[in-house]
Amino acid sequence: MKIFEKKKDLELFLDTLREKGNDIAFVPTMGGLHDGHLSLVDKAKELAQIVVVSIFVNPTQFARGEDFDDYPNTFEADKLLLESKNVDVLFLPSKEEIYPHGTKSDYQVGAIGQILCGAFRPTHFDGVAQVVKRFFEIVEPNFAVFGEKDYQQLQIIKSLVKNLNLSINIQSMPTQREQDGLAMSTRNQYLSDSNREIAPLFYSALKDAKNEILEGKTISDAIKDTKNKLSKSFEVEYLEVLDANNLTQIETKTSEIIIISAIRFGGTRLIDNLIFRRKNV
Ligand code: PAF
Repeated sequence: MKIFEKKKDLELFLDTLREKGNDIAFVPTMGGLHDGHLSLVDKAKELAQIVVVSIFVNPTQFARGEDFDDYPNTFEADKLLLESKNVDVLFLPSKEEIYPHGTKSDYQVGAIGQILCGAFRPTHFDGVAQVVKRFFEIVEPNFAVFGEKDYQQLQIIKSLVKNLNLSINIQSMPTQREQDGLAMSTRNQYLSDSNREIAPLFYSALKDAKNEILEGKTISDAIKDTKNKLSKSFEVEYLEVLDANNLTQIETKTSEIIIISAIRFGGTRLIDNLIFRRKNV
């Protein structure tokens, strides 16, 4: 695995590979790697001859008071995991490499960045879009792979690619879960042992909501009952049941549904979602 810290060196190396006819698949990460990230790498390996992974904790997607300074750094373990997956290139840029002209962004996400997580983290998705756009300019991948756990992020990246007319094929992978159902997340490390035992109730409440909707419960009752259930253990930031294709309200013709939620639990913020099809629609 080749490691680059400088954008120029990476660009030269990738140009040579491209000239030889190789496609490039890119997996951006902030490190703290787990099986969820590795599933993205596996997908990238299927898609292209060359796989580039970046590790960069992007300051512009954290608001003041969030966990930027404490974000888990497991670099040595991450490197070994990526080597074990035969990743071709690891890009480890500094803040100056990514933002040589300062962190002011020239891309605004718009309305889709202000709902759900964006209502609680108003500057987050502009920061995500900014760094992903910058990585796309540097890596110029044919494919980029993102996790469906960050479902709103995935939709925002897809619209970025469309709005900027980029020829990058965005692929996604389903959320990877621990055996007890908890969605894998770097931030799970923040949970105390006792909270870690309770955290799977989050996903089981989403599963119950799905079953109840499929059995005929109205969407508004399912939302109300699930929020009540979750509130017994967690502080619910939001819980919505939406059209999975565009994160808008469900209509009678909507067949692909997402139950999407964020909770706070002992100082840790967790997000999760569940996508399913409604029959006979
Ligand atoms: O999903 C993440 O880890 C980050 O938001 C990303 C896409 C790497 C951008 O910093």
